[in-house]
Amino acid sequence: MAENFVYPVKKGHDYTVSIERLAFGGKGIARVDNYVLFVARALPGDVCRVRITKRKRQFGEARILEIESPSPMRRQAPCTYFDWCGGCTWQNMDYTHQLEQKTAIVREALRHPYDLGDVNVEDIIPADPHWGYRNKMEFSFADRKWLTPEDLSNPEISKDFALGLHVPGTFDKILDIDHCMLQSAEMNRVLNEVDNWSREKKLQPYGIRSHEGLLRFLVLRQSRSTGAIMVNIVTSRPAGEELMPLAEHLIRHIPQVAGVVNNVNARKAQIARGDQEILLAGQPVITDAIGPFEFEISANSFFQTNTLQAARLYETALAFAGLTGTETVWDLYCGAGTITLFLARKARKVVGFEIEESSIRDARANARRYDIRHVEWLAGDVRQHMARLQEQPDVLVTDPPRAGMHADVVQSILEARPRRIVYVSCNPATLARDLHLLKEKYTIRRVQPVDMFPQTYHIETVAQLDLTDHA
Ligand SMILES: C[S@@+](CC[C@H](N)C(=O)[O-])C[C@H]1O[C@@H](n2cnc3c(N)ncnc32)[C@H](O)[C@@H]1O
Repeated sequence: MAENFVYPVKKGHDYTVSIERLAFGGKGIARVDNYVLFVARALPGDVCRVRITKRKRQFGEARILEIESPSPMRRQAPCTYFDWCGGCTWQNMDYTHQLEQKTAIVREALRHPYDLGDVNVEDIIPADPHWGYRNKMEFSFADRKWLTPEDLSNPEISKDFALGLHVPGTFDKILDIDHCMLQSAEMNRVLNEVDNWSREKKLQPYGIRSHEGLLRFLVLRQSRSTGAIMVNIVTSRPAGEELMPLAEHLIRHIPQVAGVVNNVNARKAQIARGDQEILLAGQPVITDAIGPFEFEISANSFFQTNTLQAARLYETALAFAGLTGTETVWDLYCGAGTITLFLARKARKVVGFEIEESSIRDARANARRYDIRHVEWLAGDVRQHMARLQEQPDVLVTDPPRAGMHADVVQSILEARPRRIVYVSCNPATLARDLHLLKEKYTIRRVQPVDMFPQTYHIETVAQLDLTDHA
């Protein structure tokens, strides 16, 4: 951009804009004299009056003051907390439109800023059900409650206890909720029981600013296959004495509750993971199944949060791998080895790469459970392992975190020259960047988005690439 760049908008000023499309991240995109504005909670087709909240050279951000003419995609969000909660960004759009927008975002990401040519992007695979699908929810306790307009007009309201979800843009206040539409009725029941009990017994919530108080997080997990629920209450110090009666109460009154544990996180970092775990009642693990495999899940295990869609995602990855039983397969970023086991059913040998020791431990246990011996696990940074390995896999599957693959990992893949690559991605932007690098030697055959997280902007995508001079 030229040095004498003149901004077409001013911070704090208001403009009327039309929303063109949605960006990954959930915001609407509008333009003022070709200057891009990201507008939170806006939908394509909305004409709205907005106020500029941020102004950078490449783009600005704005918030809606008034919707002058609503998009035909708009609907009333079914959840009462939608206006404040940071969980679901797209509840105000019906599911068919959500699906169309997700496919469009993947197509757009593969066109700009890297033009990947004429890529075959299939329509997204829908989720069913698209409510109550989450098998894990993490709620925070706080000593400062986010006050809704209704709360503000109620002088009796208690402001010093909340159990719920974050409001975007605030870090220390929590929206107190009594249900979440993305979890089951039984999980909602547990949420309410824990909330009521904690208030009655006057257990102190942890203050994110003060670092004082006991209760930090409530993490619920439910098996899709058995219905069993595991309750994990994360506290700032061991709290067996205070929480044991609650644990017994939950086990006695909610038949699905199979176990209650207390994880202890005495550190300041706001993470729902403990350095110590105390079993309060029942069992410390539940089992769930993805496709033909059952997995043991403990409070801190990594497990896909939408069990039913995970099976569809893995079946897609397996179909794209096109294995015949003779191949050596590398599975990069393998987590607890869930995709790895799917691949092992059809491959001669699979090598799983994963940095988290605890996930590798789970992966080993999962393979042992099915007596799968033709799998090897490499614990540590994939970047270092890849730089050292001399072998050549036939097929490579990669499922990196949101940041995508490190450039050195992409380089190592180009040198290893697997015949086929299956790329599972949770971020279309980094997928496009990495495909652009891989295009040096690979042809993108097909791209299949999969909807794992209805009502939110998140998109999972599987891409199949073949070595160009091998085709
Ligand atoms: C998107 S998850 C994929 C998990 C798994 N494929 C599944 O479907 O359950 C990404 C995984 O990459 C791992 N990871 C992140 N950085 C890594 C690195 N540098 N080397 C190896 N693994 C890494 C994370 O611990 C996480 O388990």
